[in-house]
Amino acid sequence: MNVTILPDAAAIGRAAGDLICAAAQQNPAIVLGLATGASPLPCYARIIQRHQAGEVSFAGARSFNLDEYCGLPESDPNSYRSFMRKELFSQIDILPENTHFLDGNAPDEAAECARFTAAMQAAGGIDLQLLGIGRNGHIGFNEPGDAFTGEAYKTRLSESTIAANSVYFSQDDMPRYAMTMGVGSILRAREILLIATGEAKAEAVRSMIEGELSPACPATALQQHEHVTIFLDEAAASLLKKD
Ligand code: PGA
Repeated sequence: MNVTILPDAAAIGRAAGDLICAAAQQNPAIVLGLATGASPLPCYARIIQRHQAGEVSFAGARSFNLDEYCGLPESDPNSYRSFMRKELFSQIDILPENTHFLDGNAPDEAAECARFTAAMQAAGGIDLQLLGIGRNGHIGFNEPGDAFTGEAYKTRLSESTIAANSVYFSQDDMPRYAMTMGVGSILRAREILLIATGEAKAEAVRSMIEGELSPACPATALQQHEHVTIFLDEAAASLLKKD
């Protein structure tokens, strides 16, 4: 794992956005794995800025989003499809038909997860996967459990995730279920970029980097991957050994 500590979320956003833009310049047909939440926002702002300056195009790129809530209409502002449209896709030149999501409302959930997995494979797999990390160590919506997960599946959200994300919802509207890429799907990405900021992530970050490989902290699975870049601010890095 290649860990870099940067001064703040803005600096991380620039570094992460620049890394993604460089990858897209090098490979205009790049397949991106994208994430939602607060962590990627400065990164998306940087990508938009570089695109609008004429420095990078995503016209040939494809994307697959990590996860999606179950039971929210696509048009709900809290759906991850809405989030991505608002925060990134509507402001760059990626073609809407090249952006892929799990459909959290599909009646046959297993078939939907299989369709998504097959679509990722048909695209040649993910070249660069962007990730955040939950305060409980989740990546995507792979919550702490007894075993590492494989391909995309439907999951029940943990109490920690419900507490963290319910700030975006009005009272008690927070979905309890989601569909997510599994840990196995994430590990197949050729390159992974994880962003974490703030003290609330410090313990999960410590476990991910220094803890034992364990599904009790799903992010420890990234220890097995050969090409992981991690950008942290001082607060998220505050529990790491100093050497
Ligand atoms: P956040 O979420 O970026 O909103 O903190 C990250 C995550 O839960 O994976």
